[in-house]
Amino acid sequence: MSDAMCEKGGRIVGITHRQDMKNLSVLITLCFTVGLTVGRKVSLPAGPLIRVEGETLSLRCEVSDYQGPKEQEFEWKATKRSETIQVVSTFDSSFPDQSLKARVFTEDISVERIDESTVELRIKEARVTDSGIFTCSTPSTDSVISGNYEADVLLRVIRNTLVVVPEVPAPSVHEGRLINLHCNITQDFIEGIYLSVTWSVKKDQSPEQDLLTFGPDSGVTVGNNFIQRYADGEMRLHLGNTGSYSLVLSGAVPADQGMYVCTARQWTREQGTWNRIQEKAEVMGEVAVIPTGELWLKKTL
Ligand SMILES: *[C@@H]1O[C@H](CO)[C@@H](O)[C@H](O)[C@H]1NC(C)=O
Repeated sequence: MSDAMCEKGGRIVGITHRQDMKNLSVLITLCFTVGLTVGRKVSLPAGPLIRVEGETLSLRCEVSDYQGPKEQEFEWKATKRSETIQVVSTFDSSFPDQSLKARVFTEDISVERIDESTVELRIKEARVTDSGIFTCSTPSTDSVISGNYEADVLLRVIRNTLVVVPEVPAPSVHEGRLINLHCNITQDFIEGIYLSVTWSVKKDQSPEQDLLTFGPDSGVTVGNNFIQRYADGEMRLHLGNTGSYSLVLSGAVPADQGMYVCTARQWTREQGTWNRIQEKAEVMGEVAVIPTGELWLKKTL
C-alpha cells in the first residue's frame, strides 16, 4: 500500500462521509482496489543535463505502476523557447516534426526500446540547437487516469571547445633523468563541467597504462603500476594557471620507454555520480630511455 493510495482513499472517504456506512465501505473497497494499480509514473533523469555537440546523447525514460499491456508506448517532444515539436514515437512513424524527419530517417535521432517499460531517446550527433526541454509521455492504457503520464528534462547541448595541445617531450633521456610530460588544455568555462587529465604510456605489445589522473574532483588517482613510483616522490604533478598540466617523472628507468598520451575528459555530476560527457586524447610523443653506461650512437636515431 503506497502513501499516495492512502491519501487518495482518505479524500474519497472525506467526500462521502455524510453517506451511509454501506456506501462508504463500497467506496473504500473501490478505492483500495483501484488504489493498488493507479498512479502511473513516468520518469526521466533529473536535469539539467549538459551534453557536448557532436557526441552521442541518450535520455532514458521509464514508466511504472501502470495498467494494461506490459509493453508500453512512448512519445518524445521537445520545447525550445515556447515552441513544442514532436520528436519521435515508438508507435507512430509519422510523428516526427517536419524539421526532424531527415534526422529520424537517417537514425541520427531514434527511440530505442530497452524493455517493456523503458526506452531511450538517442541522438548520435548532438547539436547545440537540440537544447531544450524534452518531454517523454506514455499514452494511457489504464482503466482510470491517475498519476503522471509525462516527465520533463532540461537538456543543454554545449559547443565543443575542449582543446588538448601536448608539448612534445624530449625524444630521449638518460637513465636517472627527468621525463617532462606537459599538456595544455583549454575549454570554455561552463558551470557544472569538470575536467580531468590523464597521462598514460603505451609500450610495445602491452596495453596502455595510466600513470596518473588529476580530477575531475581535484583528486589524484595513481595508475596501478605507478603507485610505488608516486609514493617515492618520483612522479610529480604541476598545475599552471592557464590550463597547463605537467607530470614530471624523475629517475627515469629503461621501462619508462614508450609512447606517452595525454587525455582530457569533461564530466558532469548527475545524481551523485560522475558522468563523462567528452574525451579527447592526444599523443605527446615517443620517449626513449638511454641506459647508463651504454654507448649512445646518435646516428642510430
Ligand atoms: C602551453 O601554454 C603555455 C602557456 O600559455 C605556452 O607558453 C606554451 O607555448 C603552450 N604549449 C603548447 C605546446 O602550445
